[in-house]
Amino acid sequence: MRLEKSLRLFEEAIKYIPGGVNSPVRAFKAVGGKPIFIESGKGSKLYDVDGNEYIDYIGSWGPHLFGHNPHFIKKALQDAIENGTSFGAPTELEVKIAKLITELVPSIEMVRMVNSGTEATMSAVRAARGFTGREKFIKFEGCYHGHADYFLIKAGSGALTLGIPTSPGVTKGNAADTLVADYNDIGSVKKLIIQNKDSIAAVIIEPVAGNMGVVPADEEFLKELRYICSEEKIILIFDEVMTGFRVAKGGAQELYGIYPDLTTFGKIIGGGLPVGAFGGKKEIMEMIAPSGPVYQAGTLSGNPLAMAAGYAALSYIKDNADIYKLLEEKSSLLEKGIKEALKKSNKNYAFNRVGSMMTIFFTEEKVNNYKSAIKSDTNLYGKFFNEMLKRGIYLAPAQFEAAFVSTAHTGEDIEKTINLIIDSMGSLN
Ligand SMILES: Cc1ncc(COP(=O)(O)O)c(C=O)c1O
Repeated sequence: MRLEKSLRLFEEAIKYIPGGVNSPVRAFKAVGGKPIFIESGKGSKLYDVDGNEYIDYIGSWGPHLFGHNPHFIKKALQDAIENGTSFGAPTELEVKIAKLITELVPSIEMVRMVNSGTEATMSAVRAARGFTGREKFIKFEGCYHGHADYFLIKAGSGALTLGIPTSPGVTKGNAADTLVADYNDIGSVKKLIIQNKDSIAAVIIEPVAGNMGVVPADEEFLKELRYICSEEKIILIFDEVMTGFRVAKGGAQELYGIYPDLTTFGKIIGGGLPVGAFGGKKEIMEMIAPSGPVYQAGTLSGNPLAMAAGYAALSYIKDNADIYKLLEEKSSLLEKGIKEALKKSNKNYAFNRVGSMMTIFFTEEKVNNYKSAIKSDTNLYGKFFNEMLKRGIYLAPAQFEAAFVSTAHTGEDIEKTINLIIDSMGSLN
């Protein structure tokens, strides 16, 4: 495999961009490599600037439920661009997408569009604080909710991989209102609630964590969390930036049948363009400016191109109810093959999957929270990643991330991936 152009571009990039990338995990630091520069994507495949082809299991970190560049999103963008790129004034499409989101996710009565998952989670916590008049909130160790200061306390994803539990630049003041509980441990939540009686505005959780690798919440744990939040008048926020429209049409909340007060979205909701959203109960959402006093705004929020892509993606989901069955079939086939391949390799592993999100952890223990996830052998993951990449399989360049299957992955892609796992693991023995 030739990578000369990628290597040259990276040398150039590090002169002008911190670490050579615009988001840390792309730098391949956690797996001891250099990033590959991508030229194009089509269906399940990515093509780099040196002409190499990869079967892609990152899917731009989640947005590409239908693979790269599906015709209906491309067409929606082509049509929208004819009318202009941004107006800073309301458009009909914003009404249509808001209505569609409320149809797909019944716990959402009102929704506000933003430009990223980070903005969505930040704004949801602000809404909860404004609504309750309380300041503290609970998050869970290993969950990632974007990079707002007060979320970067024991965060997952890139922050976890790079070993930055609390980032420099986050003040003690910011950190003081963030309380951290253990995922899947209701006792740890109860303890914090007792210690901070009547001062907790919100509990925010990834109902299926994807940022310490995939770790599903236990149903009983989520049920109890819902119950305690209602009892204590704490706003329960499901961060469905990753799981929204991925694990089911109505997200993880539909899968579990447990409904939050507020939900945050990102990734799929923008069809590959920079979009996020937060929404939920009308009485909370009406606190948001200009209908209420909680300020939240965005020059490009509801951007017509982004809304066109997002509306095309969500309409496709609405009109094609069978895609989740299809994703389940493809993903379970991949799971079966991966497990057989890893068994043959005699390496310890744990495997977690919810629908089309999955992670192989190189550990002998079951992974159900942050503490068990970080027992994984990240060195071995790095080697595995690089062996797979050499063979044309593009996995997440870090252990604590999810792999995503799209509707565009074919049976042939899956079979090839499984064979290459056997081959890669063989070369590591
Ligand atoms: C669960 C979750 N919340 C929030 C975010 C932040 O979203 P963004 O990167 O769009 O700011 C992410 C990003 O991966 C995420 O996975």
